[in-house]
Amino acid sequence: MSRAIYPGSFDPVTLGHLDIIKRSSEIFDEVIIGVLNNTSKSPLFSLEERVNMLNEVVSDIPNVKAVSFDGLLVEFAKENDIKVIVRGLRAVTDFEYELQMAQSNRKIAPDIDTLFLTTNIEYAYLSSSIVKEFASYGVDVNELVPELVALELKKKMGIDK
Ligand code: COA
Repeated sequence: MSRAIYPGSFDPVTLGHLDIIKRSSEIFDEVIIGVLNNTSKSPLFSLEERVNMLNEVVSDIPNVKAVSFDGLLVEFAKENDIKVIVRGLRAVTDFEYELQMAQSNRKIAPDIDTLFLTTNIEYAYLSSSIVKEFASYGVDVNELVPELVALELKKKMGIDK
């Protein structure tokens, strides 16, 4: 059985992420969304909230589930018999960082490969930070994130309608 991990912070999940998740689910038998408990970032949503939102938005994709992880990605992958890491490339600016990460991961885990999917051009500019910034100014983010996430963002920002 082919199993892949799509790791990230997902604070929060965007339609750009969801596009990568859907396309990965058609390539692999099982896709685990690995939500990093990232101590170097100060997330808006707690780890539990991020995992729960992801599981809600992928509930119609039977071979995908979100879980949290700590520590090294490749260690988590090994423990779960995962041989492929999926990452999305939005623009050439992502490439250098992603290449370095993929090569570093391969150095310590030669059996694990990184597969890059090019992000849908529609979402090439998108990031979780942009979504949070828009939401904080009351900009409608319905075209950028799943409906549930847009609602949760409004709650976090204290916007009622
Ligand atoms: N659509 C929309 N946004 C996207 C996107 C897409 N397809 N792909 C990436 N992004 C955005 C994210 O929203 C995020 O935006 P933000 O910075 O505004 O929050 C940004 O790009 C990058 O974040 P993310 O994909 O979450 O990566 P990350 O850099 O936070 O984490 C890990 C990357 C989790 C893979 C990496 O940190 C990791 O593996 N950590 C574990 C420790 C480890 O193993 N370290 C060794 C690595 S060599």
